Amino acid sequence: MAIALQARDNEHATDASPAPVSTPMVEARDLGVTYRASRGPVAAIERLSMTLGQGEFVSVVGPSGCGKSTLIKVFSGLLAPSCGSVTFRGSAIDGPRPDVGMVFQQATLLPWKTVLANVLVPARALKLDRRKAEHDAEELLRLVGLSNFAKHYPSELSGGMQQRVGIARGLIHDPALLLMDEPFSALDTMTRDHMSLELQRIWMAKRKSALFITHSIPEAVFLSDRVLVMSARPGRIIRELRIELPRPRDLSTLVDPRFTAICSELRQLFEQLVHV
Ligand SMILES: Nc1ncnc2c1ncn2[C@@H]1O[C@H](COP(=O)(O)OP(=O)(O)OP(=O)(O)O)[C@@H](O)[C@H]1O
Ligand SMILES: [Mg+2]
Repeated sequence: MAIALQARDNEHATDASPAPVSTPMVEARDLGVTYRASRGPVAAIERLSMTLGQGEFVSVVGPSGCGKSTLIKVFSGLLAPSCGSVTFRGSAIDGPRPDVGMVFQQATLLPWKTVLANVLVPARALKLDRRKAEHDAEELLRLVGLSNFAKHYPSELSGGMQQRVGIARGLIHDPALLLMDEPFSALDTMTRDHMSLELQRIWMAKRKSALFITHSIPEAVFLSDRVLVMSARPGRIIRELRIELPRPRDLSTLVDPRFTAICSELRQLFEQLVHV
C-alpha cells in the first residue's frame, strides 16, 4: 500500500521539489509497472515521478519488494513501463541503450576470463574499437585500484575487488549514466565503507550521472546529492532529501552531526513505513 508521509523541514536536508536540476538526464513521470504474474497482476510501481540530473548522484532507498530493482530495469531499458513515461535526455527509453552502464548486486564475473577480459566483455556486444577498449579497460582498472590484477582470475580476488571489476565493466563504454542495484550488498560492513569511498572517488573522477539502489541509509547519505525514499509496494517516491555535505566526503563525515541528523531522519521515516 502506498502511503503519504508528511514532509518535515530539516536544517541539513531539504525537500527538493520542484526538481533541483536544470535539464534532467533521465526522468520518470507517473511511471507504473504491473507484472503479469501467474497468480494475477502485481503492481510493483505506481505513479512514480523522479528526475536525475546531469552529473548527479542519486540514491533510492525503500522497503524490500517496493520496486527498486523494477525501477532500475525500466531505466536500463530492460523492462517496458505499463504506464507513464521514462525519458533519457528527452527521448523515450524503449530498449537497452549504449550510453547506460549497469552494476549488479553480484559482480557476476565470468570465472574463466581474466579481470581485464571481464572488463572487456561488453566491448564486443557494443562493437567498440578493440584497441581503444583495451586501453580504456587498463585505465579503468587503474582507477579502481586493480592494475596489478589485470591478468588474475575472479576466483583470486576478494568480494570487494570483484565488485570493483564490476564497476570498471559498467564504465567500459563510457556511459553517461551508471545504474547500480545494491552493488555492495554482498560485502561486509568494513568493505562496504571502503567501497563507498572508492565509488565516490570514481564518480568524482568521471562525473557520470549515477542512480544507486541500496538498503543502507548511511551509504545512501554518504554518496548522494539527493536521496529518494520509496513507499512500500506499489512503490512511488514519497520523500526527497538533498544532501548538502561538502565533497569529498571521508570517514569523518560518518560522525559529522549533519550526517547523523539526516540518517536519523531517514531511519524515523523507515520506522513509519514498516509499521504501516
Ligand atoms: N518478474 C516478476 N514477476 C512478477 N512479480 C515480480 C517480478 N519481479 C518482481 N516482482 C514483484 O514486484 C515487486 C517489486 O520487486 P523488486 O524486485 O522491484 O523489489 P525491490 O524493491 O528491488 O526489492 P529488494 O529490496 O528485496 O531487492 C515485488 O513484490 C516482487 O515480488
Ligand atoms: Mg531489488
